[in-house]
Amino acid sequence: MTLQIKNIEQYHEAYHRSVENPEGFWAEIASTFVWDRKWDKVVHHDFITPDIRWFEGGKLNITVNCLDRHIETKGDQIAIIWEANEANEPSKKLTYKQLLAEVNKCANALKAQGVKKGDRICFYMPMIQEVAIAMLACARIGAIHSVVFAGFSANALADRIKDAECKMVICSDYNRRGPKSIAVKDVVDEAIALGCDSVEKVLVYKSTGDKVKWNAAIDLWWHETVDTMSDQCEPEIMDAEDMLFILYTSGSTGKPKGVVHTCGGYMVYTEYSFKNVFQYQDGDVYWCTADVGWITGHSYILYGPLLAGATTMMFEGVPGHPDAGRFWHVCEKHRVNQFYTAPTAIRALMAAGWHEPEKYDLSSLKVIGSVGEPINEEAWHWYDEKVGRGRAPIVDTWWQTETGGILITPLPGITDAKPCFASYPLPGVQPVLLDPNGIELVGNNVEGLLCIKYPWPSMLRTTYGDHERCRTTYFAAFKNYYFTGDGAKRDEEGRYRIIGRVDDVINVSGHRIGTAEVEDAINQHSGVVESAVVGYPHDIKGQGIYAYVKAHHEVVDPEHMRKEILAVVTKHIGPIAKPDKIQFVLQLPKTRSGKIMRRILRKIAEGETGQLGDISTLLNPECVEELKTGALV
Ligand code: WT7
Repeated sequence: MTLQIKNIEQYHEAYHRSVENPEGFWAEIASTFVWDRKWDKVVHHDFITPDIRWFEGGKLNITVNCLDRHIETKGDQIAIIWEANEANEPSKKLTYKQLLAEVNKCANALKAQGVKKGDRICFYMPMIQEVAIAMLACARIGAIHSVVFAGFSANALADRIKDAECKMVICSDYNRRGPKSIAVKDVVDEAIALGCDSVEKVLVYKSTGDKVKWNAAIDLWWHETVDTMSDQCEPEIMDAEDMLFILYTSGSTGKPKGVVHTCGGYMVYTEYSFKNVFQYQDGDVYWCTADVGWITGHSYILYGPLLAGATTMMFEGVPGHPDAGRFWHVCEKHRVNQFYTAPTAIRALMAAGWHEPEKYDLSSLKVIGSVGEPINEEAWHWYDEKVGRGRAPIVDTWWQTETGGILITPLPGITDAKPCFASYPLPGVQPVLLDPNGIELVGNNVEGLLCIKYPWPSMLRTTYGDHERCRTTYFAAFKNYYFTGDGAKRDEEGRYRIIGRVDDVINVSGHRIGTAEVEDAINQHSGVVESAVVGYPHDIKGQGIYAYVKAHHEVVDPEHMRKEILAVVTKHIGPIAKPDKIQFVLQLPKTRSGKIMRRILRKIAEGETGQLGDISTLLNPECVEELKTGALV
């Protein structure tokens, strides 16, 4: 539902209404969907256990709301436009009617393979239409999708398959990304060989047609399995709180955890936020450049837009292929009205050609968005001038895998866009800033830890298979608050500016990476005793990965060892987690209790060697000089 608000006063009114009577506010929005049974209770709020339930007692199927309900009025409207990796290859389009038929065929194929409600299905797919079809097919029959970004390694994929005990993997033969072709099916084979015993079948879409190894006992071709099926499939009726999907994300400690989202609340919130943040109007063409392997792809390529009956675009390629004008070319070609991308892409394109966007007709753009990491002033202004042309407002949207949807954002044409400010919470969202003791900072012009004090429909419910981890990670730091892990400022008019993570999570090109995970990977190298990883400012990536490595023996050939370490990280996580800089050290700075003092390492990595602060509590203060002067490879 689009809120009928036109200016900041009306925004404040709507916001106050949503806080005074959240149940009434959300019930009104939820009533615009198709439910098989209406809910008994709007929200159950317990941030201690935690136990959060929305629209309990309600029954629905999200695909009915994404597809069936639009058929009568929009059956022949384009649901998904697909733009290929190669600029000269024709785009593909699916209408709502065609998409529903494809989803049903795939759903029937999954059923025929024994997939049932509640089964977990892992995806390792490029950006092709079939990933959308198959995700919706899972939702149609109540199976739970767990999409893994196809840039992760076989080890990382295997960890995720095992954690969720997935019954099936859906992949393609190859994945084209810019000039590269990645052997996706090989990675899946390798992952399965690492002991993924739960996997009964691998469904393979022939995308490039290049040769793949075949294991007839478990491999199935999509065209042989799906295409012959009936295009009618009754949706499985789900409880509002049944799981819709799992999506793995990194935290400060341990392996990535499976964030769980459920059917009812996620549906209500993704549509609501999509419509209001992008001010989508019937007939518009909307394009989000994210990969479906991240939450942005789930909520704002697939579910949000389709729930809203929008035309959503999927792009197979990468921003710089064949050149730095590709994004703008695609915007011109499809007359894109809303464009949503990440600061890292903006910075890379800005560096590749300051005036490049001027060559294209971008007059169709009405709203341009940014997501995933803080956007710096220079990039904000370039985006505003060269892409938005001062006409299409920027929405700098703050949210997380765990929040399911955008929580803090300017509203285009309604609230103003102040450079680098995510601005105001969407009505229905109650952020607060806390001091380190958990005391709420009241008033404006304050800085603190960003928490949320009231549930919103698309918040995570648990971390898969480990509820205690969900509690300790998000709800134990401050009693009765959801802790985001971010620090933020509130300006004199109540706008939020996100500063960044305050925990051991780094944001590299908008990809969230846990420093502990990278350390674990580096430590797999037999020559490494221990390592410590921190983030440092990087012009294009936002943050880069800086690794301090202590080796068993003197490193005689640092360049060789560096290459080996990069290979180990690529093997255990994937190329996105490769350190940008490595410094070999004789010692890591430690406290008397044996903890690595990361504060010092961060300062040195940032080049602030003059301001290391108090080092008197170090067990080995003598190592600081060596750290400061150490060589980098
Ligand atoms: C972290 C969440 C949200 C979908 C993509 C990332 C950072 C996200 C912004 C923004 C500053 C941002 C935060 C957050 N972040 N959006 N507009 N301004 N920082 O999802 O991988 O779960 O990462 O990304 O640090 O905690 P994610």
